[in-house]
Amino acid sequence: MTVPCVTASDETIAEAAEALCEGRLVAFPTETVYGLGADATDDEAVARIFEAKGRPHFNPLIVHVSGKPEAETHAIFTPEAEKLAAAFWPGGLTLVLPRRADTPLSLLVSAGLDTVAIRVPAHSVAQRLIAAAGRPLAAPSANASGKVSPTRAEHVVESLGHSPLLAMVLDGGPCAMGLESTVIGFPEGGRPTLLRPGAVARGDIEKVLGAPLAEAAPQSDEAGRSSPGQLASHYAPNAPIRLNVREKEDDEILLGFGPDAPSLGASLNLSVKGDLTEAAANLFAMLRALDDEAEGRRLAVMPVPHEGLGEAINDRLSRAAADRK
Ligand code: TXA
Ligand code: MG
Repeated sequence: MTVPCVTASDETIAEAAEALCEGRLVAFPTETVYGLGADATDDEAVARIFEAKGRPHFNPLIVHVSGKPEAETHAIFTPEAEKLAAAFWPGGLTLVLPRRADTPLSLLVSAGLDTVAIRVPAHSVAQRLIAAAGRPLAAPSANASGKVSPTRAEHVVESLGHSPLLAMVLDGGPCAMGLESTVIGFPEGGRPTLLRPGAVARGDIEKVLGAPLAEAAPQSDEAGRSSPGQLASHYAPNAPIRLNVREKEDDEILLGFGPDAPSLGASLNLSVKGDLTEAAANLFAMLRALDDEAEGRRLAVMPVPHEGLGEAINDRLSRAAADRK
């Protein structure tokens, strides 16, 4: 069965908003590319994005909001970020800013980082959907991982139409820009940095800032391929981590997975049922919670099956275990 693909109207947007509030996924048009949207405050809904896209690891996602005032409830703006928001929002510019401590955003949208990527889309369907849902929408491009970004509703149906996680595709016609948003970071004590070139030209941004953008250091994966969307500065707990643990030692606290966890002395359980989507939803919040109570102890993590979202969970855990500076 393929997912319903419906012309965007007040009625279908209301239906889509309802699906989002129930934790389901909706693909919607923006001026850049189609997004695969979920309630950005719902960990499980956000985990479903990764599941539907088949992403091998958790990249942080862009959060779409109604306007600057809403963005300010989630992120802390630097003076330069203020200038760029004033000049380019709504539009194809994404700002990566420190998360506010009191934001209700899922930690998974930030892939555990202390920053969040945020933008105000300039598309009436996207805007009406955010308003109808009454919450921020996390949305990566609505394509299967490794495939090109969709600029028409038909592309989304081709790429993700068979995913049972997708409630519907809102068709708003072809995207005007057809290119993903430009992503700018604001490193503490550093210059604004071009993290991903995109819909808004570098020169236009530099004109507003009155200074050149810094270049993001090229990132490469284990195979040495450059992977622009991937940041090395992922969150890693302070406590050392030991993985695939079935028997915890005295100086460890155990992060469990599955029904056996309580009998093994786990302090927290990623998923009692052994459900990988639930585990993904809990991963970053539980790592942080255990890190906070570690007090010199190591974190031990039970084995997580290497299938479905388990692959992304294991990727993240092995990075956290390896990132010892
Ligand atoms: O035009 C777009 O940006 C589209 C539409 C749907 O808005 N979205 C999109 O999302 O392209 P996605 O997930 O495919 O790309 C998000 C980019 C990635 O390069 C990601 O690494 C970066 O934004 N990003 C997100 N959060 C970040 C963060 N906290 N720190 C650094 N980079 C971040
Ligand atoms: Mg993408």
